[in-house]
Amino acid sequence: QTATSFYEAVGGADTFRRIVAAFYREVATDEVLRPLYPEEDLGPAERRLRMFLEQYWGGPRTYGEERGHPRLRMRHHPFTIGPLERDAWLRCMRIAVAEIEPELLDDEHRKALLDYLEMAANSLMNAPW
Ligand code: HEM
Repeated sequence: QTATSFYEAVGGADTFRRIVAAFYREVATDEVLRPLYPEEDLGPAERRLRMFLEQYWGGPRTYGEERGHPRLRMRHHPFTIGPLERDAWLRCMRIAVAEIEPELLDDEHRKALLDYLEMAANSLMNAPW
C-alpha cells in the first residue's frame, strides 16, 4: 500500500490547476509582477508553475520530464526579486489559495502549503531592495 500524497489529499490536478490559474489571474493585473514576465502570454508560465507544484507535492512528475532539475534560484536569476516582488508574489498566491474550499484544503494542509510558499519565496530573493 502507498501513503496518500498531499497532492491527492487536497483534490489532485483540479486543485493545483485552480490555484495556479487564480495566481496568474492576479499576476496579470499586478503592477509589480506583470512587467517581470517576459512573455505576453502568461499561459506557458502558468503551466510551468503548475507542473512544478504538482511534482513538489507528490503528483505527476511532468515538470522534471520537460524541464529537468528545477534549479529555481538559477532560473529566477534574470529577475530582480527584492522584498517588494516577494510580497507581491505572496499576495497573489494567498488570494489564489484562499479560493480553495476548506473541504478540499483543511487547516493543516492549508498551513503546510502557505508555509512552504512563504519559505520558497523568501529563498528566491536575490536583491536587497
Ligand atoms: C518562473 C517570478 C517565486 C516557481 C518565474 C518567472 C518569473 C518568476 C518572472 C518566469 C516565467 C516563466 O517563463 O516561467 C517570480 C517572483 C517570485 C517567484 C517575482 C517572488 C518571490 C517563485 C516561487 C516558486 C516559483 C516561490 C516556487 C514555489 C517558479 C517556476 C518557474 C518560475 C517553477 C518556471 C521555471 C522553469 O523555467 O522551469 N518566476 N517567482 N517562483 N517560477 Fe517564479
